Amino acid sequence: MDTRPPQDSKRFPRFLLDGEVVEARDATATTTLLQYLRGPLGRCGTKEGCAEGDCGACTVVVGEARDGGMRYRAVNSCIRFVPTLDGKEVVTVESLRAADGTLHPVQQAMVEAHASQCGFCTPGFVMSLFALWLERDRVKREEAVEAITGNLCRCTGYRPIIEAAMRMHALGPSAHWPRGPDNAGRRRAALPADAAGVSLPGFHAPRTLDALADAYAGAPESLLLAGGTDVGLWVTKQLRDLPPILYLGDVAELDRIDERGSVLEIGAAVSLTDASRCWPSSPPASAPRRCATRARCAATSPTGLPSAIPCRC
Ligand SMILES: Cc1cc2nc3c(=O)[nH]c(=O)nc-3n(C[C@H](O)[C@H](O)[C@H](O)COP(=O)(O)OP(=O)(O)OC[C@H]3O[C@@H](n4cnc5c(N)ncnc54)[C@H](O)[C@@H]3O)c2cc1C
Ligand code: FES
Ligand code: FES
Repeated sequence: MDTRPPQDSKRFPRFLLDGEVVEARDATATTTLLQYLRGPLGRCGTKEGCAEGDCGACTVVVGEARDGGMRYRAVNSCIRFVPTLDGKEVVTVESLRAADGTLHPVQQAMVEAHASQCGFCTPGFVMSLFALWLERDRVKREEAVEAITGNLCRCTGYRPIIEAAMRMHALGPSAHWPRGPDNAGRRRAALPADAAGVSLPGFHAPRTLDALADAYAGAPESLLLAGGTDVGLWVTKQLRDLPPILYLGDVAELDRIDERGSVLEIGAAVSLTDASRCWPSSPPASAPRRCATRARCAATSPTGLPSAIPCRC
Protein backbone atom coordinates (compact mmCIF):
# COMPACT_ATOMS: atom_id res chain seq x y z
CA MET A 1 0.00 0.00 0.00
CA ASP A 2 1.36 3.44 -0.89
CA THR A 3 1.15 5.47 2.30
CA ARG A 4 2.55 8.67 0.78
CA PRO A 5 0.13 11.54 1.05
CA PRO A 6 -1.41 12.89 -2.13
CA GLN A 7 0.73 15.52 -3.91
CA ASP A 8 -1.35 18.46 -2.74
CA SER A 9 -1.46 17.40 0.90
CA LYS A 10 1.12 19.42 2.81
CA ARG A 11 2.12 19.24 6.45
CA PHE A 12 4.41 22.10 7.33
CA PRO A 13 7.20 21.72 9.87
CA ARG A 14 6.41 23.13 13.33
CA PHE A 15 8.89 23.76 16.11
CA LEU A 16 9.00 25.52 19.46
CA LEU A 17 10.95 28.78 19.75
CA ASP A 18 10.90 30.78 22.98
CA GLY A 19 7.65 29.17 24.07
CA GLU A 20 5.82 29.84 20.78
CA VAL A 21 5.14 27.30 18.07
CA VAL A 22 6.57 28.40 14.72
CA GLU A 23 4.94 26.89 11.64
CA ALA A 24 7.51 27.19 8.88
CA ARG A 25 5.13 27.57 5.94
CA ASP A 26 7.72 29.38 3.84
CA ALA A 27 10.52 26.85 4.27
CA THR A 28 11.31 24.49 1.40
CA ALA A 29 12.70 20.98 1.65
CA THR A 30 16.26 22.31 1.83
CA THR A 31 15.91 25.70 3.55
CA THR A 32 18.53 25.62 6.26
CA LEU A 33 17.72 26.58 9.83
CA LEU A 34 20.35 29.31 9.59
CA GLN A 35 18.64 30.82 6.53
CA TYR A 36 15.29 30.60 8.27
CA LEU A 37 16.52 32.21 11.49
CA ARG A 38 18.32 35.08 9.81
CA GLY A 39 15.64 35.55 7.11
CA PRO A 40 11.95 35.09 7.98
CA LEU A 41 12.54 35.04 11.74
CA GLY A 42 14.94 38.01 11.77
CA ARG A 43 17.24 36.39 14.35
CA CYS A 44 20.60 37.60 13.20
CA GLY A 45 22.47 36.67 16.39
CA THR A 46 23.28 33.34 14.78
CA LYS A 47 26.15 33.88 12.34
CA GLU A 48 27.22 32.33 9.08
CA GLY A 49 30.90 31.54 8.69
CA CYS A 50 31.75 28.55 6.53
CA ALA A 51 28.22 27.22 5.75
CA GLU A 52 29.64 23.71 5.84
CA GLY A 53 29.63 22.64 9.47
CA ASP A 54 33.25 23.45 10.20
CA CYS A 55 33.42 26.75 12.12
CA GLY A 56 30.55 26.68 14.64
CA ALA A 57 29.50 30.32 14.10
CA CYS A 58 25.97 29.11 13.35
CA THR A 59 25.57 26.92 16.45
CA VAL A 60 22.12 26.75 18.02
CA VAL A 61 20.67 24.26 20.48
CA VAL A 62 17.93 21.83 19.55
CA GLY A 63 15.81 20.08 22.17
CA GLU A 64 13.74 16.98 21.67
CA ALA A 65 11.56 14.75 23.78
CA ARG A 66 13.67 11.93 25.16
CA ASP A 67 13.43 9.47 28.06
CA GLY A 68 10.45 11.23 29.62
CA GLY A 69 12.16 14.63 29.55
CA MET A 70 14.06 16.77 27.06
CA ARG A 71 17.49 16.24 25.51
CA TYR A 72 19.33 19.31 24.23
CA ARG A 73 22.21 19.25 21.75
CA ALA A 74 24.24 21.91 20.00
CA VAL A 75 23.80 21.71 16.22
CA ASN A 76 25.18 23.47 13.17
CA SER A 77 22.19 25.39 11.84
CA CYS A 78 23.94 26.03 8.50
CA ILE A 79 23.54 22.43 7.33
CA ARG A 80 20.34 21.50 9.13
CA PHE A 81 17.19 21.57 6.97
CA VAL A 82 14.15 23.19 8.61
CA PRO A 83 11.74 20.28 7.99
CA THR A 84 13.96 18.04 10.16
CA LEU A 85 13.13 20.24 13.18
CA ASP A 86 9.49 19.27 13.25
CA GLY A 87 8.26 18.57 16.79
CA LYS A 88 11.45 19.91 18.37
CA GLU A 89 12.54 23.00 20.29
CA VAL A 90 15.03 25.48 18.84
CA VAL A 91 17.06 27.68 21.19
CA THR A 92 19.07 30.56 19.73
CA VAL A 93 21.45 33.01 21.35
CA GLU A 94 18.55 35.49 21.56
CA SER A 95 16.67 33.02 23.76
CA LEU A 96 19.17 33.14 26.60
CA ARG A 97 18.92 36.69 27.91
CA ALA A 98 16.01 37.40 30.28
CA ALA A 99 13.39 40.04 29.34
CA ASP A 100 14.90 42.48 31.86
CA GLY A 101 18.29 42.17 30.19
CA THR A 102 19.88 39.84 32.74
CA LEU A 103 22.48 37.75 31.00
CA HIS A 104 22.43 33.99 31.20
CA PRO A 105 25.24 32.56 33.39
CA VAL A 106 26.96 31.28 30.22
CA GLN A 107 26.94 34.81 28.74
CA GLN A 108 27.98 36.36 32.05
CA ALA A 109 30.88 33.92 32.38
CA MET A 110 32.04 34.82 28.85
CA VAL A 111 31.98 38.50 29.83
CA GLU A 112 33.85 37.95 33.09
CA ALA A 113 36.50 35.78 31.45
CA HIS A 114 37.05 38.36 28.65
CA ALA A 115 36.27 35.59 26.20
CA SER A 116 35.22 37.73 23.23
CA GLN A 117 36.97 40.25 21.00
CA CYS A 118 35.43 40.86 17.54
CA GLY A 119 32.47 38.73 18.69
CA PHE A 120 31.68 37.01 15.41
CA CYS A 121 32.28 33.56 16.84
CA THR A 122 30.81 34.39 20.27
CA PRO A 123 27.14 33.40 19.77
CA GLY A 124 28.31 30.00 18.52
CA PHE A 125 30.55 29.48 21.54
CA VAL A 126 27.79 30.63 23.88
CA MET A 127 25.38 28.11 22.42
CA SER A 128 27.88 25.24 22.56
CA LEU A 129 28.51 26.10 26.20
CA PHE A 130 24.80 26.49 26.87
CA ALA A 131 24.24 22.88 25.74
CA LEU A 132 27.01 21.86 28.15
CA TRP A 133 25.51 24.01 30.94
CA LEU A 134 22.21 22.18 30.53
CA GLU A 135 23.86 18.80 30.63
CA ARG A 136 26.27 19.19 33.56
CA ASP A 137 26.40 20.68 37.06
CA ARG A 138 30.08 21.49 36.80
CA VAL A 139 32.54 21.32 33.96
CA LYS A 140 36.01 19.82 33.79
CA ARG A 141 38.56 21.27 31.43
CA GLU A 142 38.43 18.30 29.04
CA GLU A 143 34.62 18.53 28.88
CA ALA A 144 34.87 22.21 27.98
CA VAL A 145 37.39 21.45 25.27
CA GLU A 146 35.21 18.65 23.90
CA ALA A 147 32.14 20.91 23.87
CA ILE A 148 33.81 23.66 21.85
CA THR A 149 35.57 21.35 19.43
CA GLY A 150 34.38 22.63 16.10
CA ASN A 151 33.92 26.25 17.23
CA LEU A 152 36.64 28.38 15.71
CA CYS A 153 37.82 31.73 17.07
CA ARG A 154 40.31 33.81 15.12
CA CYS A 155 41.04 36.55 17.64
CA THR A 156 40.36 35.80 21.33
CA GLY A 157 42.08 32.47 21.73
CA TYR A 158 40.57 29.52 23.52
CA ARG A 159 41.96 29.84 27.06
CA PRO A 160 39.43 32.46 28.28
CA ILE A 161 36.56 30.60 26.62
CA ILE A 162 37.53 27.40 28.42
CA GLU A 163 37.81 29.41 31.62
CA ALA A 164 34.26 30.75 31.06
CA ALA A 165 33.03 27.18 30.60
CA MET A 166 34.59 26.12 33.88
CA ARG A 167 33.18 29.07 35.79
CA MET A 168 29.62 29.28 34.35
CA HIS A 169 27.96 26.96 36.85
CA ALA A 170 29.44 28.89 39.76
CA LEU A 171 27.37 31.93 38.73
CA GLY A 172 24.23 30.32 40.07
CA PRO A 173 20.99 29.20 38.44
CA SER A 174 19.13 31.13 35.77
CA ALA A 175 15.61 32.26 36.64
CA HIS A 176 14.96 32.63 32.92
CA TRP A 177 16.21 29.13 32.12
CA PRO A 178 15.48 26.93 35.15
CA ARG A 179 16.76 23.39 34.82
CA GLY A 180 15.44 20.14 36.22
CA PRO A 181 12.54 17.80 35.55
CA ASP A 182 9.74 20.35 36.09
CA ASN A 183 11.09 22.68 33.48
CA ALA A 184 11.84 19.81 31.09
CA GLY A 185 8.28 18.57 31.59
CA ARG A 186 6.83 22.00 30.79
CA ARG A 187 8.92 22.36 27.67
CA ARG A 188 8.14 18.85 26.54
CA ALA A 189 4.42 19.49 26.95
CA ALA A 190 4.72 22.63 24.81
CA LEU A 191 6.34 20.83 21.86
CA PRO A 192 4.13 20.73 18.79
CA ALA A 193 2.80 17.21 18.33
CA ASP A 194 1.21 16.21 15.05
CA ALA A 195 -0.09 12.78 14.19
CA ALA A 196 1.25 12.96 10.62
CA GLY A 197 4.86 13.49 9.59
CA VAL A 198 6.06 16.51 7.61
CA SER A 199 5.16 16.40 3.96
CA LEU A 200 6.29 19.11 1.56
CA PRO A 201 7.17 19.10 -2.11
CA GLY A 202 10.51 17.26 -2.15
CA PHE A 203 10.44 16.26 1.53
CA HIS A 204 8.64 13.47 3.24
CA ALA A 205 9.18 12.32 6.83
CA PRO A 206 7.57 8.95 7.48
CA ARG A 207 6.96 8.04 11.11
CA THR A 208 7.15 4.24 10.88
CA LEU A 209 9.39 1.72 9.20
CA ASP A 210 6.49 0.37 7.14
CA ALA A 211 5.60 3.85 5.93
CA LEU A 212 9.25 4.46 5.04
CA ALA A 213 9.49 1.17 3.14
CA ASP A 214 6.31 1.91 1.23
CA ALA A 215 7.39 5.44 0.40
CA TYR A 216 10.79 4.23 -0.82
CA ALA A 217 9.26 1.45 -2.88
CA GLY A 218 6.95 3.98 -4.49
CA ALA A 219 9.75 6.49 -5.21
CA PRO A 220 13.06 4.62 -5.39
CA GLU A 221 14.81 7.69 -6.79
CA SER A 222 14.39 9.38 -3.36
CA LEU A 223 17.39 10.50 -1.33
CA LEU A 224 17.57 9.06 2.17
CA LEU A 225 18.43 11.82 4.62
CA ALA A 226 19.86 10.96 8.03
CA GLY A 227 22.02 13.48 9.94
CA GLY A 228 22.53 15.63 6.84
CA THR A 229 26.21 16.30 7.57
CA ASP A 230 27.05 15.24 4.01
CA VAL A 231 23.80 16.10 2.27
CA GLY A 232 23.63 19.59 3.81
CA LEU A 233 26.87 20.51 2.06
CA TRP A 234 25.58 19.26 -1.29
CA VAL A 235 23.08 22.13 -1.01
CA THR A 236 25.11 24.88 0.67
CA LYS A 237 28.42 24.27 -1.14
CA GLN A 238 27.64 22.38 -4.32
CA LEU A 239 24.30 24.12 -4.91
CA ARG A 240 22.84 20.82 -6.05
CA ASP A 241 19.17 20.24 -6.68
CA LEU A 242 18.28 17.18 -4.67
CA PRO A 243 15.87 14.40 -5.57
CA PRO A 244 12.85 14.05 -3.28
CA ILE A 245 14.05 13.55 0.28
CA LEU A 246 12.93 10.74 2.56
CA TYR A 247 13.93 11.70 6.10
CA LEU A 248 14.90 8.87 8.46
CA GLY A 249 15.09 10.95 11.64
CA ASP A 250 11.40 10.71 12.54
CA VAL A 251 11.15 6.94 12.17
CA ALA A 252 11.04 5.80 15.79
CA GLU A 253 12.17 2.22 15.01
CA LEU A 254 15.38 3.55 13.46
CA ASP A 255 16.35 5.67 16.44
CA ARG A 256 17.00 2.72 18.72
CA ILE A 257 19.91 0.73 20.01
CA ASP A 258 19.15 -2.86 20.94
CA GLU A 259 21.54 -5.17 22.71
CA ARG A 260 21.09 -8.83 21.83
CA GLY A 261 23.67 -10.95 23.60
CA SER A 262 27.03 -9.83 22.27
CA VAL A 263 25.44 -7.95 19.36
CA LEU A 264 24.50 -4.27 19.34
CA GLU A 265 21.88 -3.32 16.78
CA ILE A 266 22.21 0.39 16.03
CA GLY A 267 19.33 2.00 14.15
CA ALA A 268 19.98 4.01 10.99
CA ALA A 269 18.89 7.25 12.67
CA VAL A 270 21.09 6.88 15.77
CA SER A 271 23.75 9.58 15.98
CA LEU A 272 27.42 8.73 16.36
CA THR A 273 27.33 10.43 19.77
CA ASP A 274 24.58 8.13 21.02
CA ALA A 275 26.11 5.07 19.40
CA SER A 276 29.52 5.75 20.93
CA ARG A 277 27.98 5.90 24.43
CA CYS A 278 26.92 2.28 24.19
CA TRP A 279 30.16 0.80 22.89
CA PRO A 280 31.26 -1.48 25.70
CA SER A 281 35.04 -1.26 25.87
CA SER A 282 36.62 -1.26 22.46
CA PRO A 283 34.80 1.04 20.04
CA PRO A 284 35.63 0.89 16.36
CA ALA A 285 39.10 2.35 16.00
CA SER A 286 37.93 5.25 13.86
CA ALA A 287 35.08 6.32 16.12
CA PRO A 288 36.42 8.52 18.93
CA ARG A 289 38.59 10.62 16.67
CA ARG A 290 35.94 11.27 14.09
CA CYS A 291 34.72 14.78 13.46
CA ALA A 292 33.66 17.64 15.73
CA THR A 293 31.17 17.23 18.57
CA ARG A 294 28.33 18.76 16.61
CA ALA A 295 28.95 16.67 13.49
CA ARG A 296 29.00 13.55 15.70
CA CYS A 297 25.71 14.61 17.32
CA ALA A 298 24.06 14.68 13.90
CA ALA A 299 25.95 12.18 11.76
CA THR A 300 24.53 8.69 11.94
CA SER A 301 26.30 5.39 12.46
CA PRO A 302 25.37 3.51 9.27
CA THR A 303 26.84 6.27 7.12
CA GLY A 304 29.66 7.08 9.49
CA LEU A 305 31.29 3.89 10.69
CA PRO A 306 31.92 2.29 7.31
CA SER A 307 33.36 5.42 5.74
CA ALA A 308 35.99 5.96 8.48
CA ILE A 309 37.60 8.94 6.81
CA PRO A 310 40.26 10.32 9.17
CA CYS A 311 39.04 13.32 11.15
CA ARG A 312 39.41 16.57 9.25
CA CYS A 313 38.65 18.86 12.15
C1 LIG B 1 32.18 19.34 10.39
C2 LIG B 1 32.19 17.99 9.74
C3 LIG B 1 33.20 17.12 10.03
C4 LIG B 1 33.24 15.86 9.43
N1 LIG B 1 34.25 15.02 9.75
C5 LIG B 1 34.27 13.78 9.22
C6 LIG B 1 35.28 12.85 9.59
O1 LIG B 1 36.15 13.16 10.37
N2 LIG B 1 35.26 11.62 9.05
C7 LIG B 1 34.26 11.25 8.19
O2 LIG B 1 34.25 10.10 7.74
N3 LIG B 1 33.28 12.11 7.81
C8 LIG B 1 33.27 13.34 8.30
N4 LIG B 1 32.29 14.21 7.93
C9 LIG B 1 31.28 13.81 6.93
C10 LIG B 1 29.96 13.27 7.52
O3 LIG B 1 29.76 13.68 8.83
C11 LIG B 1 29.95 11.76 7.52
O4 LIG B 1 30.09 11.28 6.20
C12 LIG B 1 28.67 11.20 8.15
O5 LIG B 1 28.83 9.83 8.35
C13 LIG B 1 27.42 11.44 7.36
O6 LIG B 1 26.34 10.96 8.13
P1 LIG B 1 24.91 11.62 8.05
O7 LIG B 1 23.98 10.79 8.90
O8 LIG B 1 24.97 13.05 8.36
O9 LIG B 1 24.56 11.36 6.49
P2 LIG B 1 23.67 12.19 5.50
O10 LIG B 1 24.34 13.47 5.13
O11 LIG B 1 22.27 12.27 5.98
O12 LIG B 1 23.72 11.19 4.26
C14 LIG B 1 24.94 10.90 3.58
C15 LIG B 1 24.68 9.88 2.46
O13 LIG B 1 24.28 8.63 3.03
C16 LIG B 1 23.00 8.24 2.51
N5 LIG B 1 22.30 7.57 3.62
C17 LIG B 1 21.95 8.13 4.81
N6 LIG B 1 21.37 7.20 5.60
C18 LIG B 1 21.36 6.05 4.89
C19 LIG B 1 20.90 4.72 5.17
N7 LIG B 1 20.33 4.39 6.33
N8 LIG B 1 21.03 3.79 4.19
C20 LIG B 1 21.61 4.11 3.00
N9 LIG B 1 22.08 5.34 2.69
C21 LIG B 1 21.95 6.29 3.62
C22 LIG B 1 22.36 9.52 2.05
O14 LIG B 1 21.36 9.28 1.05
C23 LIG B 1 23.56 10.27 1.49
O15 LIG B 1 23.87 9.76 0.22
C24 LIG B 1 32.22 15.49 8.50
C25 LIG B 1 31.19 16.37 8.22
C26 LIG B 1 31.16 17.62 8.83
C27 LIG B 1 30.02 18.54 8.51
S1 FES C 1 28.58 28.48 9.43
FE1 FES C 1 30.39 27.39 9.93
S2 FES C 1 29.60 25.66 10.96
FE2 FES C 1 27.85 26.64 10.25
S1 FES D 1 36.19 36.84 19.02
FE1 FES D 1 36.74 37.25 16.98
S2 FES D 1 36.60 35.32 16.02
FE2 FES D 1 36.32 34.89 18.09
